[in-house]
Amino acid sequence: MERFPSDLLGAIDDLRRERNAIILAHYYQEPDIQDVADVIGDSLQLAKAAQKADADVILFCGVHFMAETAKILNPDRIVVIPDMAAGCSLASGCPAPALRRMKERLPDHKVVSYINCSAAVKAESDIICTSSNAERVINSFGPDEKILFAPDRNLGAWLQKRTGRTMALWQSTCIVHETFNERKLIELRVRHPKAKVVAHPECEPNILDKADFIGSTSALLTYVETSDAPAFIVATESGILHQMKKAAPGKELIPLPGMQENCACNECPFMRLNTLEKMFLALRDLQPRIEMDEDLRRRALVPLERMMALG
Ligand code: 13P
Ligand code: SF4
Repeated sequence: MERFPSDLLGAIDDLRRERNAIILAHYYQEPDIQDVADVIGDSLQLAKAAQKADADVILFCGVHFMAETAKILNPDRIVVIPDMAAGCSLASGCPAPALRRMKERLPDHKVVSYINCSAAVKAESDIICTSSNAERVINSFGPDEKILFAPDRNLGAWLQKRTGRTMALWQSTCIVHETFNERKLIELRVRHPKAKVVAHPECEPNILDKADFIGSTSALLTYVETSDAPAFIVATESGILHQMKKAAPGKELIPLPGMQENCACNECPFMRLNTLEKMFLALRDLQPRIEMDEDLRRRALVPLERMMALG
């Protein structure tokens, strides 16, 4: 069995220096991982940090599509991830061959893909978006252009409402954001009348309809920090509460539970596969490593760069 140093944080720090590595962590990581990271952010912020990273090694504490995006944007770095099994239900719900078949049925549609998808799906797309810039990306198309939006149907439906345009929607969902409990939300609002409801657009429409503010992970964080409200009911992965507590120390933060009583449904099971122990091993062994066929990488880069150019 693997033996780990008693001072794991110190050992990670030493390896980070020896390897000339940068540690990027998503807001949905465990607090101890967020605290040891060089950069914490949402998927767009982390993609930008990865793109400009000049360290030899990027240790990406997030899920596979995020680490893959880092490799696509910055191929000369060694990109490692603590656990290769850290997937995403949205990415696995949209296999590239199935998307190709849908494109054949809708040949006059432009394909906008949410960044939560594989490199192969990115390579089939005209442009990528994240939840931070999705509205801007959709609005960059002329009113007569037809759009196929993949893979998140909830984000897609919300974008239809925001932009007033109809799109063909792929029908995948996030297994975390689809499970928030509407009945609990109604109860919590009655119990905390001054609380604002903040929600990620991956939530189901019945939750989004009750939200005071909808936005990406970083937008929710900024809203909680800058709003005058004393309390917030938070409808997204509960890892974000760590930074919310730091940014808004006096405010009450109430995580919205999932459907089942006493489950950890508001924690992403993929994100939570990452641990400090696996980070230590990844930096020590430079494995598991993201590798990609160069032709696929180049094709996936085109729609990502179009997104980056929009800001
Ligand atoms: P963000 O773009 O807000 O980081 O969302 C990524 C994600 O996976 C949400 O579930
Ligand atoms: Fe994917 Fe949902 Fe986990 Fe985000 S929270 S990585 S969308 S499964």
